[in-house]
Amino acid sequence: MTSDTFTEPQPTPLALLMLGRGADPESERGVECPGDLPAPSDPGLVERAYAAKAALGDKVFVLGHHYQRDEVIQFADVTGDSFKLARDAAARPSAPYIVFSGVHFMAESADILTGPEQSVLLPDLAAGCSMADMAGIGQVEDAWDVLVDAGVADVTIPVTYMNSTAAIKAFTGRHGGTVCTSSNAQRAMEWAFEQGQKVLFLPDQHLGRNTAVLQLGLTLADCVVFDPHQAGGGLSIDQLRAAKVILWKGHCSVHGRFTVQSVTELRERIPDVNILVHPECTHEVVLASDYVGSTEYIVRTLAAAEPGSSWGLGTELNLVRRLALAHPDKKVVFLEKNVCFCSTMNRIDLPHLVWTLENLVAGNVVNRIEVEPDVAHWARIALDRMLALPGVATAPATTQD
Ligand code: 13P
Ligand code: SF4
Repeated sequence: MTSDTFTEPQPTPLALLMLGRGADPESERGVECPGDLPAPSDPGLVERAYAAKAALGDKVFVLGHHYQRDEVIQFADVTGDSFKLARDAAARPSAPYIVFSGVHFMAESADILTGPEQSVLLPDLAAGCSMADMAGIGQVEDAWDVLVDAGVADVTIPVTYMNSTAAIKAFTGRHGGTVCTSSNAQRAMEWAFEQGQKVLFLPDQHLGRNTAVLQLGLTLADCVVFDPHQAGGGLSIDQLRAAKVILWKGHCSVHGRFTVQSVTELRERIPDVNILVHPECTHEVVLASDYVGSTEYIVRTLAAAEPGSSWGLGTELNLVRRLALAHPDKKVVFLEKNVCFCSTMNRIDLPHLVWTLENLVAGNVVNRIEVEPDVAHWARIALDRMLALPGVATAPATTQD
């Protein structure tokens, strides 16, 4: 095929858009950068970022998720997991500009939790999350209709992982549910069972299953998986009525790739290794591991580990590499050779950060994330329920803390 015969395929609701090409308003995929980015090869980028930050002073507050690139994280005023960053964003009402070095759903949550006079900016709008895209609001509303028809909606409390769109958080708020993160999923699910008899857990089936079984003491048979691509979720009315936890069929395209085989191989290679994984990993991988917990828990566990100890980490590679460098007295290795960086987290790079900061210096607010008021209202209710859960600031996602 010659280039003059090539026609760009038209996006469909199911087709993947190329990152940085086109836009799909219903998802976080695609989305062109609306300006001239500095060249990645520009040797002055670090200096330019420092200069722009200095010029903005207290007017800008840069948040950095633990999975961000080194070149970006060095400019973060605070770093953390998605729960900590949501709290940090809410706790800085004096900064007119919040630059969120993370992914789209985190910036949406920051916009909901900050004041109307504050602007939240996401340096690259293509920094979405494939897991969040696995639960569209139309799909979730259709699923709720299935629960209504099965006669179980009245006793079901939705709990959505932070890694979901604002529209899903709003759905959760409207239906008496809450948001959770990997730091507080246990407390959120316990709270939900105090309000109703069943939980609809969105969109990460693995976090939902690991929390239900390993922390709440439910059985695998108590959990069913609702597949939005099948009629009725692929479940019978009897299955829906018998289930205690209805797990949405979503997963993280990074953590879902760790395997039990990689755990076995690492134990053979390093016999005294401690395997520490994120609860977005599959239930089998978590069972084969020694410790499981949120990103903050992983950071804290490594900090408290004995010098000379060995650790195999099942989480995002940018964080694992930084932890290995931060703890030269411990052996820190990546669990799986077939897993790579989170491609959407990595969309935020130094050229996009410099472009965002320099535009702010010039008085231009670019890539602002603004959640529509009605969605923000209900999503805030769900987020506030999460922030009000007792003990969530310190509760780990594991009983082994
Ligand atoms: P936490 O930040 O809650 O650990 O979640 C990990 C993650 O995948 C973020 O996208
Ligand atoms: Fe989404 Fe997984 Fe990337 Fe987190 S690590 S942003 S859950 S794809």
